[in-house]
Amino acid sequence: MTTSTTESQVNDIVTKYNKLDLTKSTQNATIQVELKNANGFQSGFGDEYSSELPESTKKRFAKYGIDISKGYPERPENIITFLEDAYKIRDSANPDYIERGVNADLEKKALFAKAKEVRNLTKYVGTELVGVQLSDLNEQELDELALLVSERIVVFFRNQDLSPQNQLRIGEFFGTIERHPLAAQVPGHPGITTIWGKYNRKNADKSFKKKGGRAWHTDLDHEFQGPSLTHLHLDAIPESSGDTAWTSGYGAFDKLSPEFQKFLEGKVAIHRSAHKYYERDNILGGSKHIEREHPLVVTHPVTGWKALFVNRSHTVRIKDLEPEESQVVLNYLYDVLEKNLDIQARFTWAVPDQDRSLGASAIWDNRVSNHYAIDDYDDKEDPRHGTRVTSLGAPPVFKENSKSQREALGLDN
Ligand SMILES: [Fe+2]
Repeated sequence: MTTSTTESQVNDIVTKYNKLDLTKSTQNATIQVELKNANGFQSGFGDEYSSELPESTKKRFAKYGIDISKGYPERPENIITFLEDAYKIRDSANPDYIERGVNADLEKKALFAKAKEVRNLTKYVGTELVGVQLSDLNEQELDELALLVSERIVVFFRNQDLSPQNQLRIGEFFGTIERHPLAAQVPGHPGITTIWGKYNRKNADKSFKKKGGRAWHTDLDHEFQGPSLTHLHLDAIPESSGDTAWTSGYGAFDKLSPEFQKFLEGKVAIHRSAHKYYERDNILGGSKHIEREHPLVVTHPVTGWKALFVNRSHTVRIKDLEPEESQVVLNYLYDVLEKNLDIQARFTWAVPDQDRSLGASAIWDNRVSNHYAIDDYDDKEDPRHGTRVTSLGAPPVFKENSKSQREALGLDN
C-alpha cells in the first residue's frame, strides 16, 4: 500500500510506530510509504531453501513430480495484509460439508482387515495401524478411519510410501482443504503446508534454552469452521527426537467435577490466530489477530462425546467472565489438559529399523485435542521435514444432552 505525506510526517510515523514494517522512499518529489504484511512474509519463492531439503524429501518429491526447481517452499501469491480480508476467507459454513465417520461400521471391519495389527499406544488415546498403506484405502475404509480418529484422537501409520497428491486426496475426502493465506507450501500445491524446522528457524541453531510452555495448541482454531482432521506426513524423520504429543479434550472434560462441568457447558471462549494483520482503517493501531468465538465445551459430531475446546496458545478469554476469573479458569483447564499423562499419547516417529525411504503419518482430530511438537532435534544432524494437509469441518457446537466419553462408554459403572 502506498500513500503520500510530508517527509517529517513519514519520519514521525516510522519512528513512532516502529512495530509497523514500514519502508520509505522518495520518488518524483513524492514520499512513498510501503506497508508490508505484519508477519514479514513475501509471496512466491522468496526464501531459497530447496538445496537444503533432506535427501529423503527430495527423493519423495522427485518420485511424485513435485517441481522444486524454482525454489522451496512457496508462499501464496497474494499475501494477505489486512484483517478484514483475512476474516473474509472463510467466515461462513460450507453447505456441502459431509461429516465422515458418522455412518461408518462401529467395528471398522474393512479398515482393520487391512491391518497386521491394531496397536493402541495408551488406553484411550492414540492407535497405530500396523501394515496399512494409507494410499491403498478406499472410501469405506477412510470413512472407518475418520470414526477411529474421532474415538482415539490420533492414528499413526509407519513405513508409508505416500505421494503429496495422495495425501491431498485423502484430506479432500475428509473435508474442504484448508489453504492457508500465508503459510509456506509445497510448490504448486496450495493445500499442502510445509512443516520444516530448519526453514521455520531460518537456519538458526536449535536453542535448548528456549522454553516450550506455550507449545500445546490446536491448529487454526481461530477459523469459523476449523480443522476436523489434520494429517501430518513426515518424509524426513529424526533418529530419536522430534516426537509429537497429543492430549484428549474428552479425557480432560471427564476429569472435572459434575458441578464444574455444568458451569463450563454453554460458555463461549475467544480464540486468536497465530498470525496478525492490519486494520485497513487503523493501520497505525498496529497489527491484530483474528479472533473467533467457539463453545468452550463442544460435542463431537461423530462420537457425540463432550470435550474441552481450549488451548494455552490461542484461547484468550472466556466470554462474560471478568478477565481475572477467565484467566484463573483457563489456566486450570490448560493444566488439566497438559499435566494428566493418562489422557495423552506421545508418538516417536522413527523406529530403530526405520527405512529412510519411507515416511510416517499421524492423522488427528483437532476438534477434541491439543498437540505439542517436541522441538528437541538438531536440523544439521537429524533433519525433520513434513507435509501437512488440513481438512476443515463444521463450526463447533455444544449439544445440551450429549454425554462425556466415560459416560457414553459406561466406564464408571
Ligand atoms: Fe500444530
